[in-house]
Amino acid sequence: MAEMRFSESVSARLDGDVLVVAIDNPPVNALSAHVRSGLVAALDYAAGARDIVGLVISGTGRIFIGGADIREFGKPPVAPSLPDVIDQIEAFEKPVVCAVTGAALGGGCEVALACHGRIAGENATFGLPEVKLGIVPGAGGTQRLPRLIGTIAAIDLIGTGRAAKAEEAVALGLADAIAADPLTAAIAAARENAGRPLRRTGRITIPAVDAAAVDMAEAKVVAKSRGQYAPVEAVRLVKSAGHFDLEQGLAEERATFLRLRDSEESAALRHVFFAERAAWKVETLTDVSPRRIETVGVVGTGLMGSGIAVSALTSGYHVIALEQTPEAAASGRERIAGILAKAVQSRRLTAEGREACLARLEATAEAKDLATADLVVEAVFDDLSVKTDLFRRLDSIVAPDAILATNTSYLDPDTIAAATADPSRVVGLHFFSPANVMRLVEVVDCAKTAPDVLASALNFVKRLGKLAIVCGVTEGFIGNRIFSAYRREAEFMLEDGALPHQIDSALEAYGFPMGIFAVNDMAGLEIAWARRKRLAAARDPAERYVEIADRLCEAGRLGRKNALGWYAYPSGERTIDPAVTAVIEAARAAKNIVPRAFASEEIIDRLLAAMVDEGRALLAEGIAARPGDIDLVMINGYGFPAHKGGPMFAAQKS
Ligand code: 3HC
Repeated sequence: MAEMRFSESVSARLDGDVLVVAIDNPPVNALSAHVRSGLVAALDYAAGARDIVGLVISGTGRIFIGGADIREFGKPPVAPSLPDVIDQIEAFEKPVVCAVTGAALGGGCEVALACHGRIAGENATFGLPEVKLGIVPGAGGTQRLPRLIGTIAAIDLIGTGRAAKAEEAVALGLADAIAADPLTAAIAAARENAGRPLRRTGRITIPAVDAAAVDMAEAKVVAKSRGQYAPVEAVRLVKSAGHFDLEQGLAEERATFLRLRDSEESAALRHVFFAERAAWKVETLTDVSPRRIETVGVVGTGLMGSGIAVSALTSGYHVIALEQTPEAAASGRERIAGILAKAVQSRRLTAEGREACLARLEATAEAKDLATADLVVEAVFDDLSVKTDLFRRLDSIVAPDAILATNTSYLDPDTIAAATADPSRVVGLHFFSPANVMRLVEVVDCAKTAPDVLASALNFVKRLGKLAIVCGVTEGFIGNRIFSAYRREAEFMLEDGALPHQIDSALEAYGFPMGIFAVNDMAGLEIAWARRKRLAAARDPAERYVEIADRLCEAGRLGRKNALGWYAYPSGERTIDPAVTAVIEAARAAKNIVPRAFASEEIIDRLLAAMVDEGRALLAEGIAARPGDIDLVMINGYGFPAHKGGPMFAAQKS
């Protein structure tokens, strides 16, 4: 039978006596108004057609349904609403089964939950990621999911927003079965259930659970939420499903959804969502084809190099790790194997996956072995002559079209590129440590980087599953330049009357996992100290300079590594150290500064203003392309709370 069309994005065909509905709303099959109206029209048609015994809902493309259409948020509502469509599915008299190929997320998962049967394809995932957008599920997710999989599992999935793959979904009871051909299986299931009593999720009674177990599941979510509101609200709603009937529960969920949708937290997280997508769009790279990268050379297997190697291996690349001596190469291999073993322990990698990674790893002390690399990333000591020598050597070893990347944090990549005969093949890849965990990579577009080299670097970072932010050449790139400005401001406040723990507490209450002084202790104080000494001669004597950090380093306080830094760590725990307070007081006295009190709001306002001023300078200089890129750097590299949207977004709000 010919295709039937119910709206611009919803069509159907008959498979015998089953109506097979297909949603086709690229790019992610979001539940836009025409999808909702198309679904209702298809249901109405099937209800009135006596020869149709059941209905299947499917999605065209690699995603089943990516959720409500986020672009409709903030616009006047258009009927039918998603909750109405979903209620109609659940109440439908004939069986409705969904064939979930790919992701069923947010509203897409809620559509699936309301169906009378759910067949998963092998690549299906089910998730309610709303909390990542600062909202709660708004179309029954918090009420139907616990009815299907129990309160504890629902708190975990909804509170964290993580998605469950097909096998887990079946194990949890979220999906009925996995099928190689989910569409055929769903059609069969719809036909089989025709005329039988239907399993309506909303009518299932939630199994009773131990209150202590619920408290524990809730505590886990709260601990991770770092002051974010939505996960806490989501858990409250899931718990309430056990006390309310479905109608009451849905009403409370909808009210909470609408309230949070208009919240600052949600606006901030939506900004982050769209900024992440925008970051990959580089104007100069439209129509540029990237080079092929399969083999990656990594020079240096210290903390940074081994992290980069692990990241490349787990993303399917062949890796050649270069060290200076055979012994160092052997211990580099061990370090990499150790990180992979930990990933197996924490179930981020299977034992077979680890073996496959190790089979793709070659550790060597012979630079000529890098000849087959398509891309070489250096992660050696951050010293200009070390790096320029290395690039000069690499230049004559690798193929003429191979790409050379420097992971320098503070050196000028243009000077490093100038050591090669062809600087157009040089790019900066500034990873953050530990590189196998941290998501951010600043991709430095050097003065002579060729467009296809930049495009290849972006492709590489994407395949690593990381977030690339393109930036121009400047000392410290985007992140460290802002970090320096923010650190300078924090130290001004120290001199003016605040103490490290007051500044750190204000930052932690704002949502940073750790305040700036605690972060400095963790990173170690000596690298910044060496840099200050290097730059001392060029410093403008009229510039305000705070010497407190120098005094601490001179007193041998280098951070956590020797249990003394901005704090003391007598038994590993961070404690306020009167010796540090004394150093600060002496520095104030030396400059005749009368200390004054700082409220938390003032601390945050001043630190934000310092970040924003530096951010604006980076934009004016063309180093960063958009304010959103700066926000993403600070969120993913420096602990800025995502639910505040990043410094540029927060400043625009205040
Ligand atoms: N609404 C509108 N646009 C969306 C969207 C959505 N739910 N999800 C993705 N898009 C857009 C993106 O902005 C991007 O647009 P662009 O091309 O103009 O930049 C495009 O779709 C492609 O997105 P990705 O680059 O992210 O594509 P991927 O293939 O890498 O990932 C995805 C696909 C896994 C579906 C990912 O896009 C994603 O996670 N989307 C968000 C899912 C989500 O949070 N859903 C819940 C929405 S809220 C909700 O459902 C409320 C309900 O409870 C009432």
